[in-house]
Amino acid sequence: MKIDLIAGARPNFMKIASIIDAIHAARSENKDIEYRLIHTGQHYDKNMSESFFTQLAIPHPHVNLGAGGGTQSEQTAAIMIGYEKLLMDEKTDLCLVVGDVNSTMACSIVAQKLHVPVAHVEAGIRSGDWKMPEEINRLVTDAITNFFFTTTPEAGDKLKKSGVSEDKIYWVGNTMIDTLLKHRNRFQQPPFWAELGLQKNEYLVITLHRPANVDEDDKLKVLIDEIIVNSHGLPLIFPAHPRTAKILAKLGISYENLHITEPLGYLEFNYLVENAKAVITDSGGITEETTVMGVPCITLRDNTERPETVTIGTNELIGTDPRAIQPAMERLFSGKWKKGGIPELWDGKAGQRVVNTLVSLGK
Ligand code: UD1
Repeated sequence: MKIDLIAGARPNFMKIASIIDAIHAARSENKDIEYRLIHTGQHYDKNMSESFFTQLAIPHPHVNLGAGGGTQSEQTAAIMIGYEKLLMDEKTDLCLVVGDVNSTMACSIVAQKLHVPVAHVEAGIRSGDWKMPEEINRLVTDAITNFFFTTTPEAGDKLKKSGVSEDKIYWVGNTMIDTLLKHRNRFQQPPFWAELGLQKNEYLVITLHRPANVDEDDKLKVLIDEIIVNSHGLPLIFPAHPRTAKILAKLGISYENLHITEPLGYLEFNYLVENAKAVITDSGGITEETTVMGVPCITLRDNTERPETVTIGTNELIGTDPRAIQPAMERLFSGKWKKGGIPELWDGKAGQRVVNTLVSLGK
């Protein structure tokens, strides 16, 4: 069986890494499975893409479609055109997509229209918020997926409610967590650790990049002001996504304890998270990683497609109203943050389960 693995944007790379590891392991047992790794080029900066390939030892992609930048539709269209050409030149038995980025949806559509079945890893999760491009990507992808690999039983339930038959749903766990667990003992101090005098549990990490939080200039400034006021003077490390970095530069935001950095490598970023007092974020994937590492996580969003990080893990959704920051940070600083547990099957073996399933489907 020959599989196309699609990776396009930063949060895809750690998910695909675990699947590639599992394919190599299966091949070493003479299982009939081979792959072509396709980078759509959605993320193209060195520190948004290449550094992940290097640090996680992901093989060089067989193809890069170079489809980064542009509006949602321009980017989606460029990926579709590139992938369609590739598939027409050389077909494959299955297209495997991960997550919810534009590359995920674009390649699923192309594959399915060329009668190539689609497998979706991280299927069935829903925020219910149609203003998020990721939610549209999830809905469209799952509407045309043949094999659904899920992180939780709840994701499977959502799929069943939408009419997916139970025998197409495979609860496998979380491939992003496979990669976290595999590399946990390799996490690296970022180069500025000593320079800023950082100490375990004595700083906070911030990541914000969702349009709802960063695209209105005033909103971002008010959120950051509120975090600063409630930070007890602790260092705040803010590795900024290119979108956020542009806005921060325009706003000229500057505080003594706010350290804005370039996006960090995987090993440096997770070192910072693992040792932080807490993370303040609007990411989805980071709430899964903080849950597994037991780090308090304050999420500046009104909804989440990953409710288990709240019901089981260390995450709490506080919304995007800046007034919610003070009570949350007070709870954190008074030591009253919940402890949290780890969702079932987030055990480092999800990629293996995906690949074992694919191998048995190919027979
Ligand atoms: C994408 C994903 C989001 C994920 C995020 C993580 C979609 C719909 N969204 O959002 O789910 O959480 O990645 O990073 O797919 N840019 C650069 N250099 C890069 C990449 C992007 O400068 O390497 C710029 C783009 O030109 C664009 C902006 O950042 O102006 C946004 O990039 P885009 O890929 O459209 O979406 P993200 O916001 O990164």
